Amino acid sequence: MSQSIHGMWSSRLIFIFAASGSAIGLGNIWRFPYIAGENGGGFFVLVYLACILLIGVPIMASEILLGRAGRKSPINTMQDLTQASGVTASWQAIGWVGAIAGFTILSYYGVVAGWVLFYLLEMSTGGLVNANAQSTQEIFTTLTANPWALVGWQTLFMVMATYIAALGVVKGLQTAVKYMMPALYILLVMLVVWAATESGHFQESLTFLFSFRVEAFSVDALLAAMGHAFFTLSIGMGAIMAYGAYLPKGVSIIGASVTIAMLDTIVALLSALIIFPIVFANGLEGTEGPSLMFLTLPIAFANMPGGQFFGTLFFLLVSFAAITSAISLLEPVTAWLVERLRTTRAVSAMIVGFMAWLLGLGSAFSFNIMSDVHFFPGMTFFNLVDFASDKILLPVGGVLIALFTGWALRQTIIEEELGFAGYTINIWQALIRYIAPVAVGIVFVMKLQTLFTG
Ligand code: TRP
Repeated sequence: MSQSIHGMWSSRLIFIFAASGSAIGLGNIWRFPYIAGENGGGFFVLVYLACILLIGVPIMASEILLGRAGRKSPINTMQDLTQASGVTASWQAIGWVGAIAGFTILSYYGVVAGWVLFYLLEMSTGGLVNANAQSTQEIFTTLTANPWALVGWQTLFMVMATYIAALGVVKGLQTAVKYMMPALYILLVMLVVWAATESGHFQESLTFLFSFRVEAFSVDALLAAMGHAFFTLSIGMGAIMAYGAYLPKGVSIIGASVTIAMLDTIVALLSALIIFPIVFANGLEGTEGPSLMFLTLPIAFANMPGGQFFGTLFFLLVSFAAITSAISLLEPVTAWLVERLRTTRAVSAMIVGFMAWLLGLGSAFSFNIMSDVHFFPGMTFFNLVDFASDKILLPVGGVLIALFTGWALRQTIIEEELGFAGYTINIWQALIRYIAPVAVGIVFVMKLQTLFTG
């Protein structure tokens, strides 16, 4: 099939914007710095980079390949490809695990993106012009303590993301990424220049992030780095597969995967290099957790000439980054509903958006009325969905995708998508057949061991 019924990206560049728009999101700007902080920097960052290269890029290429070969939603693509390859229908689980993972991630993603919208309003109306370490802490605590404020912001974000998804691949998704992504890069670079020249703690941050200390090794850092590699690249649940379905023939899949992973990694590292100098300059703790970005950035903007303007722009762009990711979380199931129920795109998007919103209430309430409800020791609903998605569902989904593409998919389909065997294709095949599954397996076994030995 040369076209998808859902529409097609108009060029290679648009696909790169869309896929990197999916990849670059709260994971890069909000999540990466705080988990790097929680896990002590250096060791975590090195494992993370290794995972991107050895596990992330090859699985991303596999997802794009499967998507383009099937040209449908991940669930139906998997159905077609298992049949075409003459292998067991159990592989279709990939589509279903992905759908569950998508809902889980989107549910709490909407809540955190809601925080970003709140900060956008505060910043633009001058509520943060005198921010210091203490006042940002207060503002964050006041916000998260108020369930209805959280739900209100979450709702606003989910409505916007659903609206874009409802407009469809060409009118909605493509238009959104075309403007939002280039703007994001420009602002990020401006902020890094500020951090490198004005913050006074840039060197220290570099050391924190890149100095590899063997004694920093921990199984939890290992699992966190691996899980985050899946999360930040949007792989393991079919989002990239869905986007691959709209990719014109002739675009190099491996080349595109490397480009997307590079852009994503650069944005994550730059975000950390913006946030850590502020942490160090203001006596904050890098181990702050999910609130880290919200406690640090307002301080930077309060101390910089034109801070209110740049701060507003910045939170606007973080909102863009979040939206271009959220629409990719909506896409697999939205496309599937269109195929399955033969409804309009708008109806499908609204069903998916509403269900993710509903599940997200649990995360919004984890910070206030449900903060004492623990599912495992110390684990709120928010912690639970976060843990289940990036540390379990995505790695499992990703390994299944690697194994399917590596061992089960008919060879002629691979040749049709990638061309005939060559050097890079051999490396890719070795990575998805052996390296990625074994690496993920080892990390899982090590983690299980710590659960039993304490
Ligand atoms: N990658 C996005 C981020 O870093 C989040 C995201 C979007 C995602 N789509 C996904 C994560 C699909 C996993 C799977 O913020």
